[in-house]
Amino acid sequence: MRLDKAIARNGLTRQMAKKAIAGGRARVNGNVVLDPGYLLKPEDEVLLDGENARAPENVHLMLHKPAGFLTATEDARGERTVLDLLPEKIRMRKVGPVGRLDKDVTGLLILTTDGQLAHRLISPKWDVEKTYYAEIEGEIDDECVRRFAEGVPLKEFTCKPARLERAGAGACRVYVSEGKYHQVKRMLAAVGHPVLRLKREKIGPVALDPALSEGEFRPLTPGEEAALYEIAGMTKHE
Ligand code: URA
Repeated sequence: MRLDKAIARNGLTRQMAKKAIAGGRARVNGNVVLDPGYLLKPEDEVLLDGENARAPENVHLMLHKPAGFLTATEDARGERTVLDLLPEKIRMRKVGPVGRLDKDVTGLLILTTDGQLAHRLISPKWDVEKTYYAEIEGEIDDECVRRFAEGVPLKEFTCKPARLERAGAGACRVYVSEGKYHQVKRMLAAVGHPVLRLKREKIGPVALDPALSEGEFRPLTPGEEAALYEIAGMTKHE
């Protein structure tokens, strides 16, 4: 990888990285390097202003999405998006959301720079289960559970079989591996229980960290990253 690209991964534009290098602020294995196109070897130590500047190839985050934010990287009408919850340094790494949560839906949103991983986690082909907690009108009964297990017919398609569980009074958990538009809300409405509030708790093996308040994020742990790559049938390359 080029030196300017590696430096830019620390939250700089490519132009800013080139300037920093030309100003003698970058060192490779202890030596000042002034050439932005200098080709780095994987084992090279890179410093910017004396600090480690070897940022990982990919960034993966979990965000506790609050209501009121669009799951998008930008919005033409100027509505707030989930990227507004991240600092500039991370936005510049060009992280994108894995799938979509409606504006009023809260809970686990994973953001990543790895487009292939994002694609596989939402592709029906890879069958990654998402867990939702819903507050609903009325109470789930065995008939609803059976209808979910058979596949709920919606207007344009029939959903894949899904698991539905009661979760106390006026609440349930839904386990789905599809992610069509408003799917969970539509499935529950179709069995007579419109959703009042919806929260995503889990994507495959990764659960929302209870230590994160709404609007907070953290990097995925190495274990969480590895688990996601594994269910997506990919090897992680850093
Ligand atoms: N199902 C929905 O209805 N909305 C979401 O945001 C996610 C799943």
